[in-house]
Amino acid sequence: MDGEKGKQRSSFSGKLGFVLSAAGSAVGLGNIWRFPYLAAKYGGGIFLLVYIFLVLTFGYAMIVAETALGRMTRKSPVGAYAAYGHGWQFSGGGWINAIIPILICPYYSVIGGWVCKYLAEYMKGNVQGLAADTYFGEFISSGVSVEFWFLVFSLAGLVIIYMGVQNGIERVSRIMMPLLVLLALIIAVYSMTRPGAMAGVAYFLIPRPENFSWMTVVSAMGQMFYSLSIAMGILVTFGSYMKKDVSIEQATTHVELFDTAIAIMAGLMIIPAVFAFSGGDPATLKAGPSLMFITMPKIFASMGIGGIMGILFFVLVLFAALTSAISLLESGVSTFEDEFHWSRQKATLVMGLLMVGLGTLSALGYGPLAAVTVIGMQFLDFFDFLTNSCMMPLAAMATCLLIVRVIGIDRIAEEVAADGAPFRRKVIFDFMIKYICPFFVAVILFSSLGSVFGLISI
Ligand code: PHE
Repeated sequence: MDGEKGKQRSSFSGKLGFVLSAAGSAVGLGNIWRFPYLAAKYGGGIFLLVYIFLVLTFGYAMIVAETALGRMTRKSPVGAYAAYGHGWQFSGGGWINAIIPILICPYYSVIGGWVCKYLAEYMKGNVQGLAADTYFGEFISSGVSVEFWFLVFSLAGLVIIYMGVQNGIERVSRIMMPLLVLLALIIAVYSMTRPGAMAGVAYFLIPRPENFSWMTVVSAMGQMFYSLSIAMGILVTFGSYMKKDVSIEQATTHVELFDTAIAIMAGLMIIPAVFAFSGGDPATLKAGPSLMFITMPKIFASMGIGGIMGILFFVLVLFAALTSAISLLESGVSTFEDEFHWSRQKATLVMGLLMVGLGTLSALGYGPLAAVTVIGMQFLDFFDFLTNSCMMPLAAMATCLLIVRVIGIDRIAEEVAADGAPFRRKVIFDFMIKYICPFFVAVILFSSLGSVFGLISI
């Protein structure tokens, strides 16, 4: 099944190419914006503990499985599934993996647009204005301005994808990623040393069983899929570009460690700041998506050089968001190219139209469309819930079943060991894919659906 007829499939130059691209896809708004607000909302230290546990077990098994599946078949998800059969189960499994990024990309770009807006305001020197409590709420309900910045962000992503400057992105990543780490460290240290911030550090790092709820597990699992870019076919595609002599085990471990380290640093920037500026007020802790946009500006406003820090911070967040958006777009575009045999131009155009259509719903959802809700949620929250809590578990389940029932764990293990080194964590992998992953996924799916049925208020 190796190799492809006709067109030569492009491949990464080596391990670094894969790690950089996979890390570029993994590290994004999920780490800096989504992880801290979920951790703040769903239990602090206990959320962190559950999250790390899931990443090292379930997440690890999935990241290895998808990469190996891609490298074995040299195909994107729809093709990879079809390589093993043509029944509805195979096309269903392939397509659900392929559709998820197409649904995430539009709302992801709306948040990318928020980041652009904040960056523009810092450039104008509006350091104090952004730190006001009401700024964010007024902005996201403004409609026109949100739509404008969403379009700016989307256009940037689409242009890059259309030109296919994958190489450029890889090269920029080499500089931006270390910079991101450095800046995150500086801000985290500053944030942790504010008066009152230590309570936040303790809340974030010390697991307290009384803060545990079932939602801790559900949200940590959704976050794990989201942050590692798994259960949506992206790593199948990246795996298909990976050479045989690269160690899948090592490369995926690097991606995982890097992604988790950035998330933890983001938690250390944001959660202590919530305690320093609001005394750990439960309402602020539960602020949800707005958390980063409310607390970071307060930190910057309290620094003498806040304007510059604000610019730097949002440039780097923007960069992290763009590399992730590009991997989402690329995955959509390549599905259209591969499955419908469209030209890159046509595929990019259709993806662009889908983006604008679906993204506009999310962009206006907190403003002019606030009265319209789907199962009790604004559009943006709805798309986030639909993909993370419903579709990704299904996609993960499909991949587990494909591997256990059809391909066989041994064949995957053989692929993982193709570089010559033994598959060291095979026993964990085997156990995870066969028992733990399907079990967890089923539980998550039922709890998400259950919560929706308890919530219906259209
Ligand atoms: N993993 C990215 C992040 O953490 C988001 C993303 C999701 C990217 C799905 C690609 C696919 O921000």
